[in-house]
Order: sequence, then structure tokens, then C-alpha cells
Amino acid sequence: MSTGSQPPLLYPPYASTVRRAPARPLIRLPHNFSDFAAPVYGYRDVAEVDADLTCQHAGEPLGERIVVSGRVLDEDGRPVRRTLVELWQCNAAGRYRHAIDDHPAPLDPNFSGAGRTITDDDGQYRFVTIKPGAYPWRNHHNAWRPAHIHFSLFGESFLSRLVTQMYFPGDPLLARDPVFQSIADAGARESLISRFDLDLTEPEWALGYRFDIVLRGPRSTPFEDRT
Ligand SMILES: [Fe+2]
Repeated sequence: MSTGSQPPLLYPPYASTVRRAPARPLIRLPHNFSDFAAPVYGYRDVAEVDADLTCQHAGEPLGERIVVSGRVLDEDGRPVRRTLVELWQCNAAGRYRHAIDDHPAPLDPNFSGAGRTITDDDGQYRFVTIKPGAYPWRNHHNAWRPAHIHFSLFGESFLSRLVTQMYFPGDPLLARDPVFQSIADAGARESLISRFDLDLTEPEWALGYRFDIVLRGPRSTPFEDRT
């Protein structure tokens, strides 16, 4: 992993890292077989509708319908096949369906905000959802998170587990966001911004955004948190 391509555990502008960053040196645990064995849960339970967050309720959610798709690759550029990709996000108004989200924005009865899918033989995944809104988060005065989608991937083993966030191009909040800015390397930060893609865009229906994800290695997508 190149220097600065991953966020530090302690980054004071991102206030909650001050309390959760380890205060003592990390203890390295020896790897054993269980670290290398792929997680086996999830695969059989994943239904096609799980990848379409606009079809999980009686009606369609409000907001801008989008397609989010890309490839999951390993550090050598090989596709990571048949791997679980999960995402979660707030609704178009910037509100999560979660007990502790008290942002005074409306919930959407037709949007839960969670999806999952399995990559195909080319490492491709594809979700249909709505574009999430920005939301305030009290990290500092007038702090707003840029629109983002949370991703979790297991890859081929627990050692390649990745939790990260995908952003949208041209968002003016990125320059002021301590979560995004905690990654020192500009190229690594850029890798978290999806690209608008006309080939993924479907006429009369939805804009398409491409987001490729690299698990482990020097070109790894920055991890959200390694604790
Ligand atoms: Fe979030």
C-alpha cells in the first residue's frame, strides 16, 4: 500500500477518530487458516431484488434514479468472482432509516437504503438505487457529508474485507469533508469518486455511475476504517 493511500486511524479533523483510535501500539495476530477461508454465508440468500433498491417496497422511492456498477478486482487486476458486495445509504433527502438518525428530513416509506449482490465471472456488480442526499453530521460547525454510498466487500477472505464509501463527481462538499480528506494521497482520494458513465446510463430512465473497487495491494481502494 503506498504511503498516504489509506486514512490514518487518528485524524483529529474527523472528530470521532480521536476517541476511537487505539492509544497503544497495535498487537499483530498470527494468521491462521480461518483468515484465509472465504466467508460462506450470504451467497444462497441473495435475491435479484436485493440489488434494486427501487423495487423493495410497494411504490418507488423519491429521488434521482441511478445505476451504480463496476468491477471488483484484486491487486493484480484479476476479477474477484462470485463475491458478496453490500451497500447502504441515506435517502434522497439525506436521512437514514436508522433509530439514531434525527436529521429533520423526511423518511421515505419506499426506501430502506440497503442492498447486496454477488459479482459475476468478470467481477462485475450492478445496483439500481436513488442518489443519496447530503446530510449534516455535527463534526464541526456547519458540517455536511458529501453524497455517498457505503460499501462492504469480503473479497476472497476476511483478510480482503473492505469497508469504504463511494462519492459522486463534482460534489463541492468533498473539499471540506474530513472523512474524504483524511486520505493524504490525491490519487487514492480520486479512486473513491465514481465516474459518470454514459454507457451505464439508460435512456429515459437512469444516470449511470461507475465505481471499480480494488481489494488489497498498492492500488487498493482506501479503507474507511481499519480498527
Ligand atoms: Fe453515511
